[in-house]
Amino acid sequence: MASKLIIFFLTVASFTTISVLGEEQGFGSPLDRKLVGLKKEKLSHFRFYFHDIVGGQNPTAVQVVPPSNKSATLFGQITMIDNPLTLGPKSSSKTVGKAQGFYASAAQQEIAFLMVMNFAFIEGKYNGSTLSILGRNNGGSSRVREMPVIGGTRLFRFARGYAEVTTHSYDPKTNDAVLEYNVYVFHY
Ligand SMILES: *[C@@H]1O[C@H](CO)[C@@H](O)[C@H](O)[C@H]1NC(C)=O
Ligand SMILES: *[C@@H]1O[C@H](CO)[C@@H](O)[C@H](O)[C@H]1NC(C)=O
Repeated sequence: MASKLIIFFLTVASFTTISVLGEEQGFGSPLDRKLVGLKKEKLSHFRFYFHDIVGGQNPTAVQVVPPSNKSATLFGQITMIDNPLTLGPKSSSKTVGKAQGFYASAAQQEIAFLMVMNFAFIEGKYNGSTLSILGRNNGGSSRVREMPVIGGTRLFRFARGYAEVTTHSYDPKTNDAVLEYNVYVFHY
């Protein structure tokens, strides 16, 4: 009698354990990094040029929200971009991807933008991989602006790093600018 009872309780206990484990594994559970193909983390450097074309017949940067008032800092302005990324500074240079997203004027007392964008690469093995940037770009007031790389896809899964930006050229007539990006990123 006692042994039957023990077996009964053991059975109930093991069912309970299994169902609790099952529920936990259904949502989140530890995973061996090899199972998702993660090897040794590496550091890569990328250099390319970002073409912010706001003037002319085929702009790639388009204002979608005007500034909230006539402030000299354009506070509140939002510009959507689909800007070409090229290997060299000339627009005829080889295209390695696009910068897609927006920049928003986010400071009232100075020129400073919130940058939210993905670099969608098409070059070589990086074709189809993206890096995501979210950061502050204080216009032209610093020679080197720095923004965080907050993630990525495909070859850039688990990416983190930073981008350094300098102005290569600026046309005051059209407001078109070519910016040099140097991106330092940890990824697998
Ligand atoms: C307009 O912008 C200026 C900065 O140039 C700021 O001082 C002022 O508070 C802004 N006004 C409104 C109503 O947002
Ligand atoms: C990138 O990949 C896409 C989809 O696989 C392909 O159509 C395209 O030709 C590739 N581009 C380059 C430049 O290799």
